[in-house]
This record gives sequence, structure tokens and C-alpha cells, in this order.
Amino acid sequence: MAADGDTTDMHVQGDSTLPRLTSRLEFQQYAASAKDKWNSLWSSTSTVVTVLVGSSSIAKGAETVLDAAAEYALMKSNVVVRKTGVDGADWMEVQVTVKRPGGPLVHYANVTPDEIVDVIEGRLESKALGVDGDQPSGNLPPLKDHPFFKYQQRLILRDVGVIDPDSIEEAIALGAYSAYFKVLFEMSQEDAIAEMTAANLRGRGGAGFPAGIKWESGRKARNSPKFIVCNSHEGEPNVYKDRRMLEGDPHRIREGLLIAAIVVGAERVYNYIGGEHPWAIKRFRKAVADAERLGLIGKNVLGSGKSVAFRVRTGGGAYICGEGSALMYSVMGVRGQPRTKPPRSVEEGLWKRPTVANNTETMANVRDIINNGGAWYASIGTEKSSGTKLMTVQGPLKTMGLVEVPMGITLRTLIDEVWGGMRAGYKFKGIQTGGVSAGPLKDEHLDLPVDFDSLTHVGGMLGSGGFVVFDESVSAVDFARYLTAFNRYESCSKCVPCARGNPALVEIIDRIRLGRGTRADLPLIRRTSKHVIELSLCGLGQVAPMPLLGMMDQYPDEFETAVSNNTGTVLWMTPQQEKVLSTETTTTPAAD
Ligand SMILES: Cc1cc2nc3c(=O)[nH]c(=O)nc-3n(C[C@H](O)[C@H](O)[C@H](O)COP(=O)(O)O)c2cc1C
Ligand code: SF4
Repeated sequence: MAADGDTTDMHVQGDSTLPRLTSRLEFQQYAASAKDKWNSLWSSTSTVVTVLVGSSSIAKGAETVLDAAAEYALMKSNVVVRKTGVDGADWMEVQVTVKRPGGPLVHYANVTPDEIVDVIEGRLESKALGVDGDQPSGNLPPLKDHPFFKYQQRLILRDVGVIDPDSIEEAIALGAYSAYFKVLFEMSQEDAIAEMTAANLRGRGGAGFPAGIKWESGRKARNSPKFIVCNSHEGEPNVYKDRRMLEGDPHRIREGLLIAAIVVGAERVYNYIGGEHPWAIKRFRKAVADAERLGLIGKNVLGSGKSVAFRVRTGGGAYICGEGSALMYSVMGVRGQPRTKPPRSVEEGLWKRPTVANNTETMANVRDIINNGGAWYASIGTEKSSGTKLMTVQGPLKTMGLVEVPMGITLRTLIDEVWGGMRAGYKFKGIQTGGVSAGPLKDEHLDLPVDFDSLTHVGGMLGSGGFVVFDESVSAVDFARYLTAFNRYESCSKCVPCARGNPALVEIIDRIRLGRGTRADLPLIRRTSKHVIELSLCGLGQVAPMPLLGMMDQYPDEFETAVSNNTGTVLWMTPQQEKVLSTETTTTPAAD
């Protein structure tokens, strides 16, 4: 059992100017004054300049833009400069908004440090894309009418790109911790779980298990202490939703976790964040430290008699540590490897005690469900997949980024409208679904609704909502090699079918790619895949060959051609493979 009794990681300091709230009345007064302050910011006689700063826009110079804006504001008495997280519109980065007194909030796209002063002073209106609200302003349309935003239903992204993620006061001004307040003072555990169950919120980490059922099992578990774990590992390539939530609105996730702790009766919450996401870690830790200063975590929260502690743990970069049981070992400081189940984590998780684990996006939905009711949430999306879903994309598309859309939207709408269609010079070939755990879909599948169940019938999968669109120049054999090699590399080597089967698959694909395959290799791939899928211990091995099998099913000609004329389809090679070819050796190239 962990001996630590403190609530947060001690080296992160919260804002020392925050008051300590000790009663429900004090919280209500603080929330009312935060709201007044927020309203007066936007109705003031100052120009409010906001730079959207997150891991994606930082790579495009957002911090330099912010610095340049702040430097300019030093010379002006009526300019306020602030930052928020990024709102998902990667194609607009670096994005800046300017609200001039009496005018609408204007969104500017692709702003550089050299341009920021002209943008603030209104001399670069060519960079303006639209305004907030329902009405146009002059030539500028409402930004919400742009296809990238038009199809979105932003529930959990509502405040992302709006609030400063480092300001708990701004978060509270827009309603953060209102649902937490409800479960602390106004709602029973049973009522809260009933709303979660009615919402039919299915886990957003990939498997789609209903959160309400998991929470109820946790509540009923007899052992103590109990724990809540948030899975913010996000180690899958092609997915970038959870880190953006953590960077843009950490309080929404924290609130879901605290509610889970109260409702399940857990004494401590852990958030396990992938070590590759430094901005998510930094901002989330700050949010935890501020909430502790304010008195929203710790002992006897707001005088409610309820106590909850909070800790942040970071991963070391192994994809497998996102798997539930491996994650728990990693939190406990043990090597992260999956174990056989049962017992399930909700029976024996951290330190063999009942532990409820949910994905970051799952937790982000809790506030609205508690505030608006499960029936409200269930009315969004489809009958079996309720609510909205965060989705990300990579590939040669015009308006790429993170979006929140109702479940049931079609792939075609996503690709052609929301993400703007293919860039000039690229022809659509397919869309890889389910991250590294499912197969690709082709044009004939694009009218299928995107939800937990519809894509699986044709070999695809919603998974955690990360898609890759690829064009005609991409070889299906090479792409299959990349996806299989990822799973081989990330196998934890605990069980033989996965540890030996995945390298064998990569070796066969490489043989084919290098022009030395034979027709017998195709059934060999299927036989080997069957072994890996049926005999592996955890979810990684059980789905690892699926992208390869999917590519073979959807693009059989490419595999047939590659093995029948022994020319291979190699577009790139590892240095080792180049060496093998150039020395004309006849041995099978070793897996790299
Ligand atoms: C190899 C592997 C990696 C996984 N990585 C993640 C991850 O990064 N984040 C996540 O939430 N779930 C991940 N999962 C799924 C978790 O095991 C678990 O189902 C999920 O966190 C439960 O939360 P949910 O019910 O809210 O989806 C992974 C599973 C496997 C097999
Ligand atoms: S299936 Fe692969 S990742 Fe999972 S336990 Fe076995 S070796 Fe490890």
C-alpha cells in the first residue's frame, strides 16, 4: 500500500494568491466573483488579444507570437494579452483572437511573430477568418459556419481555446466544479451513478465499455481503500485528443475524476499521463496544485466531510503502459506489463484494491452528464453510441485537426467537409481506422456512420478516434509494414505468440517488400496472424495483425503483385535492408 498521505506532487506549486475555500458558501461566492471578473474582461474598454498556445501551435511559433504581443502590450495601456490552449483547428495555427471594445471577437489564422502588431492594430484583415457569434461582421462570417466547425457539437471542447488552462478562476467562471459541488452537497452516490448509467457513456479509450456500469461495480466493491485512475497515456501513433484536452481544459478532466472518487467512495485519484506530452503534464499538474490551494481537494473538501487526494504519474514512453493492467503496475512503480484477467481492475487494481480506470475523454464528459442529466446525454449521437466523440486525423487533408462531433456522423462528412477534403495533387486511397488495431476503409465505406459498432462489420474500428487518410502514392504493403512494425516494437515480450509472432510477420512483409516473397507468404501471414490473435495474452497482441489483414483484404492486388512478380513494392528501406539488397545476399533480412 502506498504510504504517501499528501495529495499532490509536492514540487508543483499552486498560485499563492488563491484563497482557501472552506465552505459551500465560500465556493459559491468565489464562483460568482470569478464570473463577474470574466464578464468585465470582455466588456471592458481594452482590446483583448488571445494567443492559442498548445503543443501543436508551439511547434509553429505560438510562444514567440505571445511574447511579441505581450511586448507590444507593455507600451499600451489599453491592450490585454492572454493565452489559451489550442482549439483543435491545427490548420489555423498560430491562431490569435482580438476583441476590440464594442466589436465582435475576431479569429485570425496563421499569424507569425512579425505580423502580430499589424493584426492587433487591424492592418492585416486578410488574416481574419471569422467572428464569434451568430452574426457576420462586415465581410467576416461567423466562424461557426465554417465546415470545420459547422458539423461539430463542442461539449467537452466548449472551453478549450476559450479559457486560460493555467487559470482555475477562469475555469470556475465558466462552470468548472459545478457538478463536483453537486455531488458533494446535493446528490447521492446512487443518483449520480444512475445519471451516468442513463447517459450510456461508453469508454472513450477504445473498448467502449459503459462507464456507469464500471462505476457501479466500483461503488459496490467491498474492499478498501479504493482508487480512481485516469488513463491519459495516449501512446498510440495518430491520436492526439487526450493531450489536447489536458492542455486546453485540465479542470474539466479533474472534475470528472473527483466526481468519480466521491461517487465510488475512492480515497485517491491518479492521473497517468504519457511522458511524451510535457505540456499536458505541466498544465495538468498546475491545475491540480491550484485546486488543492483553493481547497477543492484534500481533507473535508469545502466542509462537506468528504476527502479526496490527487496524484499525477507520468509514463516512460512504452505504448503497452496504456493497457489498463500494465498502467496500474507502472503507477505502482513496477514494470508495466499486462496480466491475465480476471480479476478485473475494479476488483483488484492498484495495490490489489478496487480501482476504477477510465480514459481522459470519458472523464471529460462527466460534468455535463451530472449537470444536465443522463437522458440529455443519451439524446445526442446514436442509440447505442450516445454523445459526442473527439476525433483526430492525419494525412494530406486541407483543414486537419481535432474535432468533437456527434456519434453517427459519416466518414465522408468528416473527410470531405470537416477536414476539407484532399489537398491539391493527392487522390484519396483509404482511411486507416482504429489507430494500430484495425484495418483501412475505402471510398465505398465512407457513408457508414462513425460509432462503436458500425465500422467493425467492414474490418474498421472507431477505437480512440484517431484516423489516417492516405493517398494513391502510399503502398498498402508499406503501410501494413509500418503498422505491424509498431506493434512488434511495442510488444512487451511477456507472452510468446505476440513476442515471436509479430517479428515473424514483419519479417515476412519485409521479404515481400524486398522482392523475395512467394505466393506461399500470403497464407503464411494469415496463419501466423491467427496464432497471434488467438493466443496472445492482452489486447495488443490480440489485435496487432488486424491492420495487416485489413490491408490484404482491401488491397489484395498489391500483395498479389508484390509476391507474384517478385519485384516488391519498396518505397523506403532501413539501412540494414539496403545493405542486404546491395550485397545480393540470399538470406532473409533480419527484423530491425
Ligand atoms: C496496448 C493498449 C494500449 C492502450 N492504450 C490506452 C491509452 O493510451 N489510453 C486509454 O484510455 N486506453 C488505452 N487502452 C485501453 C485501456 O486498456 C482501457 O480499456 C481504457 O483505459 C478504459 O477506459 P475507458 O473505459 O474509459 O475507455 C489501451 C489498451 C491496449 C491493449
Ligand atoms: S500480447 Fe504482447 S503486449 Fe500483451 S502481454 Fe503478450 S507480449 Fe505483452
